[in-house]
Amino acid sequence: MALLPILTAPDPRLKKKSLPVEAVDAGVRQLMDDMLETMYAAPGIGLAAPQVGVLKRVIVLDIDREDTRTGPLLMANPEIVEASDDDATYEEGCLSVPEHYSDVVRPARVTVRYLDRDGKKQDLACEGLLATCIQHEIDHLDGILFIDHISSLKRNMILRKLLKTRKEKERDEAEGKAPSRTRDQAKDPEHAL
Ligand code: NI
Repeated sequence: MALLPILTAPDPRLKKKSLPVEAVDAGVRQLMDDMLETMYAAPGIGLAAPQVGVLKRVIVLDIDREDTRTGPLLMANPEIVEASDDDATYEEGCLSVPEHYSDVVRPARVTVRYLDRDGKKQDLACEGLLATCIQHEIDHLDGILFIDHISSLKRNMILRKLLKTRKEKERDEAEGKAPSRTRDQAKDPEHAL
């Protein structure tokens, strides 16, 4: 397994639509395993392939690593086949939008259809944080970030700050200094989707 570098916004690769995988072969399983390791190390509870620069419809999630009943979920070609009319609001963050958080409204319950690590078709009905996380990750596959669900005023403010942080980091690296800002520590992995 290997840790993969996580892209941060603004990055054109995060705005692209990812392509379905033809089959869950050894290459896709390797990608899933590397993504899971990268997600745990971040730490976060969800990660989509475009966040590591791979434009394939693959996501991994583990909303509660203490809870071994469900374990990690590895999904290829996930799609929402049913969504509830009622909504839920959750304060979302994202490993590609480090240190920024915002309330996002989404359907409270969804059913997702996907291929598992063995290539078997599965339907999973979910609610709560799992429903939020799955919708957030599937958005990534369509080039959508959680900040695309909030006001353009707040979105542009966040993007400006991210660019500023990146420039500071590059300047520190060029000058051989230790980074003046410590990296991207999510206030809580539950908010790093
Ligand atoms: Ni995300």
